[in-house]
Amino acid sequence: MIIRGRVLHFLEEPKTDIPEGSYEYIEEGALLTKEGRIWEIGNYQEIRTKYPNFDVMDHRNDLIFPGFIDLHNHFPQVQVIGSYGTQLLEWLNKYTFPEEAKFSNKAYAKVQADRFVRLLLGNGTTTSVSFCSVHKDSANALFEEASKHNMCMIAGKVMMDRNAPDNLIDDPKSSYRDTKALISKWHEKGRNYYAISPRFAITSSPEQLSQAGRLVSEFPTCYLQTHLAENEEEISYTLSLYPRSNNYLDIYRGFGLVGNKSLMGHSIHLSPNEIATLKDLEAVAVHCPTSNMFLGSGFFPLNNLIKSGVKVGIASDVGGGTSYSMINNLDAAYKIQQFLKFSVKPMYSFYWATLGNARALGLEKEIGSFRKGNFADIVVLDTANDICSEIRMKTCKSLTEELFVLQTLGGNHSVKAVYIAGKRLK
Ligand code: GUN
Ligand code: ZN
Repeated sequence: MIIRGRVLHFLEEPKTDIPEGSYEYIEEGALLTKEGRIWEIGNYQEIRTKYPNFDVMDHRNDLIFPGFIDLHNHFPQVQVIGSYGTQLLEWLNKYTFPEEAKFSNKAYAKVQADRFVRLLLGNGTTTSVSFCSVHKDSANALFEEASKHNMCMIAGKVMMDRNAPDNLIDDPKSSYRDTKALISKWHEKGRNYYAISPRFAITSSPEQLSQAGRLVSEFPTCYLQTHLAENEEEISYTLSLYPRSNNYLDIYRGFGLVGNKSLMGHSIHLSPNEIATLKDLEAVAVHCPTSNMFLGSGFFPLNNLIKSGVKVGIASDVGGGTSYSMINNLDAAYKIQQFLKFSVKPMYSFYWATLGNARALGLEKEIGSFRKGNFADIVVLDTANDICSEIRMKTCKSLTEELFVLQTLGGNHSVKAVYIAGKRLK
């Protein structure tokens, strides 16, 4: 199939004020997709002449962009999003844990997984890294739904054996056994990958973190996802539970949980030592901007982390986060950094949510750009799809400016179509 439009994708991280060379933009562009992969990228007329028999999907005037990658979210929180008035620990106890307990019912989990996957795809997110509930079947439900659409899903059941309601806890042995069974069922099957998921140190005993470390060493190709230094009250409680650790990250490191496949959600309140450890062990600090604002958690030290050489990712953290749209999350990230007197460049933002996140996952040879051979995961964006954007776009003089206005005014309504592995969904 030929997908026609204004093709844009990133080749490199845009590091300077002049991002030329870090991206490819073809105004009269097209992608040729075959067997679910990117086959060619170029000028529409040239591709059309070369392949006269291929079907054309005409998105002239719209941006043809790699599908967004969401590096951290919670599928059992589809009905938690937008819960009023609390900060992290109270929010977990009051809203999140009672809702997650419902996922012991597989039929309920299936309904929510279907909704969750549709919400992601409808927002142009074609790869997701997701926490499931403690129940093994919640992970089965999510992988089953993602597989129906052939989307790239990285997920795992949370391991949590304390400091939560009785109907929401496992134990070190059962969490090891269930995770192992899920890994053999789903990891590297189709487009699925498994993420070993100790929820956070508060809800895992040392014995359980030790089992998580055992899984990491037995299954080195799996990801590891958890939460780190999100909220000040959370940090003091955590350190009181692990009094022998020097800092929060040290707890995870002590159990072998920090490495180049580790995705550390939030990573806000970090000491210089923790930043150095993240860098040395090549772990990813995952920014969750709408969540950090909504729960009043704090300001992610983006500039400091980048300068320190730490890999950074960006994510929605739905349902602490308030939007499935990565465009909205980029907007929130920009606003948070404004408080820190650091203005994130629009080219960097759009790189971040695509190739940047793909690199953080080590999956840049599969997703995140239109590199030949990558999956044809595509989002088609209309940058003037509402009256406010339409009026503002008339004054845009450059692609950079257009992207910034899209980031600021766009969102779910900007998504005109989504393709997963070359198949049109929306
Ligand atoms: N820390 C542990 N669990 C969670 C969660 O579900 N959401 C957020 N935002 N932080 C967490
Ligand atoms: Zn989270």
